[in-house]
Amino acid sequence: MKLLVVKDYEEMSCATAKIFKDIITEKPDAVLGLATGSTPIGLYNKLIEMNRNKEINFSNVKTINLDEYVGLGEENSQSYRYFMNDKLFNHINIDKANTFVPNGLAENLEKEAKSYDKKIEELGGIDIQILGIGNNGHIAFNEPDDFLISETHVTNLSQSTIEANSRFFKSINDVPTRAITMGIGSIMKAKKILLLVKGEDKVRAVKELLNGDITTKNPATILKLHEDVTIIIDETMEYKGNFY
Ligand code: GLP
Repeated sequence: MKLLVVKDYEEMSCATAKIFKDIITEKPDAVLGLATGSTPIGLYNKLIEMNRNKEINFSNVKTINLDEYVGLGEENSQSYRYFMNDKLFNHINIDKANTFVPNGLAENLEKEAKSYDKKIEELGGIDIQILGIGNNGHIAFNEPDDFLISETHVTNLSQSTIEANSRFFKSINDVPTRAITMGIGSIMKAKKILLLVKGEDKVRAVKELLNGDITTKNPATILKLHEDVTIIIDETMEYKGNFY
């Protein structure tokens, strides 16, 4: 696991965008594993800028997202599909048919989850996966528990995640309680993983990841077992975390 300390959020977004650019330059049909939440928005803004400046060509790129709320469709502004269209896909030269987000409205959610892992395989695996982290250590929607699930699956959100994500909804009662999420195994199969950390509420989870043991009570700690993970934090987080 590598730790990259950057000055601030701007630098985090720039550094990550540069890594994306290098990967796409080398492999124009790269498969990008994307995430939602507030953390990757800066990265997406940089990618839009680089696409406008003709520094990155997305015409052959494929993307696959980590998760989606159950019950929310593309038209719902709280869905992760809507978020991805709005924050990235509508502004770059990507073919939307090459962008994949689990279907939260699927009639058979279990089938949808199974076919999502198949889709990742068909695409040839994920070249680079970006992750945010929840304040309880969740990655995608793999919540702290006594066990973790390897494959893409339907999951119940923990109360702390519902509370954390309620900032995006009118009321906490509007936050969906279930999601389809890539499993830990689906994520760990990615060739390269970048974990972006933004927000001081993540200090405890990141400290456990950097200094503690692997535990299902903090799903992010599993990343210790991956051979190519970079955690990107800013100087404030480094100072607050006193990680060494
Ligand atoms: C959601 C997403 C996660 C994301 C997390 C953190 O729960 N499912 O993938 O990492 O939010 O969000 P933020 O980046 O806004 O802190």
